Amino acid sequence: MQGLLRAKNLEPRTVLDVGCNVGYFALSFAGQGSFSYGVEMDPLPLRTAVLSSKHIADRGTFIPVALECTPQSVVLLPQCDVSICLSIWHHWVRHQGLSAATQILRELWAKTDGVLFFDTGENEMPPEYNLPFRDGDAVQWLSDYLRTELKGGSVSEIGRFAAFAPNHRNEEDAQLTRSLFAISRS
Ligand SMILES: C[S@@+](CC[C@H](N)C(=O)[O-])C[C@H]1O[C@@H](n2cnc3c(N)ncnc32)[C@H](O)[C@@H]1O
Repeated sequence: MQGLLRAKNLEPRTVLDVGCNVGYFALSFAGQGSFSYGVEMDPLPLRTAVLSSKHIADRGTFIPVALECTPQSVVLLPQCDVSICLSIWHHWVRHQGLSAATQILRELWAKTDGVLFFDTGENEMPPEYNLPFRDGDAVQWLSDYLRTELKGGSVSEIGRFAAFAPNHRNEEDAQLTRSLFAISRS
C-alpha cells in the first residue's frame, strides 16, 4: 500500500481502516504521520488497538472507534484521503447480505478522496459466507464488481498476498493468497 501511495505522491493526512482488528494497518499509517481512524466492532481486539494507540512515537495519531459498520452507521464515518477495507467485505456479505455489503462499500468509497484498498476472502471461504462468485472466478468477479459499483474510480489489482482461511489448520491453508485491489480517484 505504501509503495503505491509513494508512486502516486500521496502522503495521506487522514486514513480510515474499517475492521481494523488490533489496528495493524491504521497504526502503521499513524507511525508515518497520518491521522488514522480504526473502526472495529469486536471489543477484544479493539482493546489491544486502544492500548497500542497510546504508544505512537510523536508523529501521527491513531483513534480506535467501537462501531459495527452497517449501511446506517457507515455514513457517520469521516471523510479521508485513504481508506482500508481488508478482509471484512465477506463478513458483511455473510451477516448483512450482498446488497448491504455493497451499500457499505459505496458509502466508504464516497468518503475516500484518494485511494481505497480492498481485499476479501475468495474461493477458500466456506459456503456459509454466501459469496456471489462461489465456484467461479473470484478475482474477475471482484474486479467487475468494483468497477461497476465504485463510480469514478480507477481499479487496479496490485498483486496477490498471503492470507489465512477461516479456521485454518495446517501449512497448506497458510499458503493461500488473495488479490489486493486499489481503487483510485483519477
Ligand atoms: C478477518 S479480520 C481482518 C482484520 C484486518 N482488516 C486485516 O486485514 O488484517 C475482520 C475484522 O473485521 C471486524 N468486523 C467484521 N464485521 C464488522 C463490522 N460490520 N463492523 C466493524 N468491524 C467488523 C472483525 O471483528 C475483525 O476484527
